Amino acid sequence: MQNKASTVVVLGTGGTIAGTAASDADNVGYTAGQIGVASLIHAVPALVGQALEAEQVAQLDSKDMDHATWQRLAQRVAFHLQRPDVAGIVITHGTDTLEETAYFLHRVLAPTKPVVLTAAMRPSTSLLADGPQNLLDAVGVARHAQARGVLAVLGGAVHRAADVRKHHSYGLDGFNSGDAGVVAWVEEGALRIVGAWPQGDALGLEAIARPSAEWPRVEILISHAGADGAIVPALVALGARGLVVAGTGNGTLHHTLHDALLDAQRGGVRVLRCTRCAEGAVVGQTDGALPSAGALSPVKARVELLLALLTAP
Ligand code: SIN
Repeated sequence: MQNKASTVVVLGTGGTIAGTAASDADNVGYTAGQIGVASLIHAVPALVGQALEAEQVAQLDSKDMDHATWQRLAQRVAFHLQRPDVAGIVITHGTDTLEETAYFLHRVLAPTKPVVLTAAMRPSTSLLADGPQNLLDAVGVARHAQARGVLAVLGGAVHRAADVRKHHSYGLDGFNSGDAGVVAWVEEGALRIVGAWPQGDALGLEAIARPSAEWPRVEILISHAGADGAIVPALVALGARGLVVAGTGNGTLHHTLHDALLDAQRGGVRVLRCTRCAEGAVVGQTDGALPSAGALSPVKARVELLLALLTAP
């Protein structure tokens, strides 16, 4: 079943999906963000003749993603979403920070139409590139009448922005949604829906209207054996207005870090505590003095804190 609005806009931002290597056997020694998004579409025969528009928003290795690109991307996504002829948006992205961009767009736009991020673990020149199939699947999801919200489509799985996570540094099946599970599977172009579509209210573009150079500094710390709380005042002196701390296990912290973070919080710095575990949430109020980010990963908690500071009165 498809939407009446028929156009899918594909926004390119770079990544391995647009990467090239000198040899088709090389899946690591490549340069990300080399091929334009229009060429990525033309490389997939099943997409030729479909109602697609391509727009290059950025061309970078997503390890270098920055706030200015996030701001521009959110603006372009919002622009195309309000067009009645647009069924949905696809964003080609690098795998490395895809989950952060997805969560950022989810919190800012919470769209009713589908906004589908996709990527590849292997460059476009690879003997067995995964990008073309992921792009084809993503376009199919962006056109699907029931799909909504910010999603990530990779390896035949449809993930919610809030749950998706890159869990493998190299393997083809590099993403999962932890214990939340996926929304759907893409099977030969059809969707088998097994979960709920993303929910939540949009903060709106006005939340991120300030020039990105003025966005507050929010840093991530990790609690570990031998941790030293001295890092906290150093970051505050650098101008940090928010600190996310990835705690051990259920969000517990080395006592030196805990004390230093409490001091910073008393001084007006916002602190958010999460777990450094790959799966699970901070459960209960084990440390009511330092607020918990619940099930958010450290990088998504950082987005949450950044937006909280941007929208603070
Ligand atoms: C990137 O994130 O841009 C490079 C790595 C990848 O896409 O897999």
